Amino acid sequence: MNAKLDALSAHDVLKLNDLGGYTVPTRGLYPFQWNWDAAITALGWLAAGDEARAWREIERLLEGQWDNGMVPHIVFHGDAETYFPGPEVWGVKRSPATSAISQPPVLASVMKLLFEEGRDRRLAEEKLAATLPGVIRYHLWFYRDRDPEHTGRVCSYHPWESGMDNSPQWDGPLAGVPPVDAEYVRRDTGLVDPSERPHKYEYDRYIYLVKFFQQNEHDAEVLYRDCPYRVEDISLISILHRGTRDLIALCEEDAAGLGLVNTHGEALYSLKQSLARTEEGVQALWSDELGCFLSRDARANVLLEHVTTAGILPLFAGIASGAQAQRMGGLLEDWLEQAPFGVASTHPASTRFEPKRYWRGPSWLHINWMLAIGCEEYGMSREADRIKQASQQCIAAAGYYEYFNSVTGEGCGGRDFSWTAAMDLYWLNPLESFTASKAASGVEEVS
Ligand code: GLC
Repeated sequence: MNAKLDALSAHDVLKLNDLGGYTVPTRGLYPFQWNWDAAITALGWLAAGDEARAWREIERLLEGQWDNGMVPHIVFHGDAETYFPGPEVWGVKRSPATSAISQPPVLASVMKLLFEEGRDRRLAEEKLAATLPGVIRYHLWFYRDRDPEHTGRVCSYHPWESGMDNSPQWDGPLAGVPPVDAEYVRRDTGLVDPSERPHKYEYDRYIYLVKFFQQNEHDAEVLYRDCPYRVEDISLISILHRGTRDLIALCEEDAAGLGLVNTHGEALYSLKQSLARTEEGVQALWSDELGCFLSRDARANVLLEHVTTAGILPLFAGIASGAQAQRMGGLLEDWLEQAPFGVASTHPASTRFEPKRYWRGPSWLHINWMLAIGCEEYGMSREADRIKQASQQCIAAAGYYEYFNSVTGEGCGGRDFSWTAAMDLYWLNPLESFTASKAASGVEEVS
């Protein structure tokens, strides 16, 4: 059965979730604007033919940017009763209210695509000029505040900052965080099947960290020194790295003739140094035994030995050697053999693999998209094609769910989900009009 027949179209899903220039991931469960969701969703608006709306998504996300450059993981544009922890728990005093952590900055890479693939050149140039300075400050913030010792490996302070909330990678580091010492009421488990959501054990620690940030007034030095959770997240490192490369390319190519290299010369110099540090520093995270990269608990000083999609994202960043890429390509074959509906967030052979529970085994389409791009760029077209087909099968089996059971293809989590619809529009089943306009502008399809 084709699940799309009796469901909303992908474009309708975006329209349903549009709350006025920003798109909620899904109604009810996630009623605000999320950082990497917004970026991925902008690609959906682009592919649906609404370029102005795509750029608007980015502008509205940047309304939440802090003075220090951070772009938060949630921007609370409006009120909603259905989400915990809301703005009052984060306690960030600014307008619009926001959370106090960030998320994988896929934003810059998306802006490069919006700029290159947009048909309305005047709009693209105007919007790039308006948004680029903020995104440069965002990347400078990441390297400055999250890698003050110049290891080349930025760190995260919360599992939510990875966007892969409940990944087995974070089990070890989270055990070093005490539980929060207060009562609270979760909203998520009333909205979706609790067996797909994190346990109370994790939530108690998630909320402890939220309070910890507030109590320490978000002071960068104090957090780096004292945060009980400090992890070098290989996915964050990889996505940041590619975003920085894309930002530099946008400035150097300067297709809009904005004089970007002159205006941002110092920033670009600093970002290039950061790229060089990561190219070297990331090698400390390679596991020859497992054949992929790993995250690292920077407090306990141990590698987190779990084979997850995070550890393959260095392909997207272009920071793996050719030999490392081959090893990861081999791993992917086996991965898809055992769980065919998208590359599962955790390798199916892992003892912690749970095909339905949040980030412990289901598949997410935007991660699959990044993996397919990485494979293609390393010359592994066969793997890239397989990933794309496996992702198409998820949509065919279940429609626009938040994520998918990687063994059965069943849709899980929230329904009518923006980033899944966006990936369908942009990557998996693009409308003919979008494919034709890409072909006319000479943009090649990545996979
Ligand atoms: C969950 C996901 C995260 C996503 C958010 C909104 O927290 O783990 O990656 O950004 O939901 O969709």
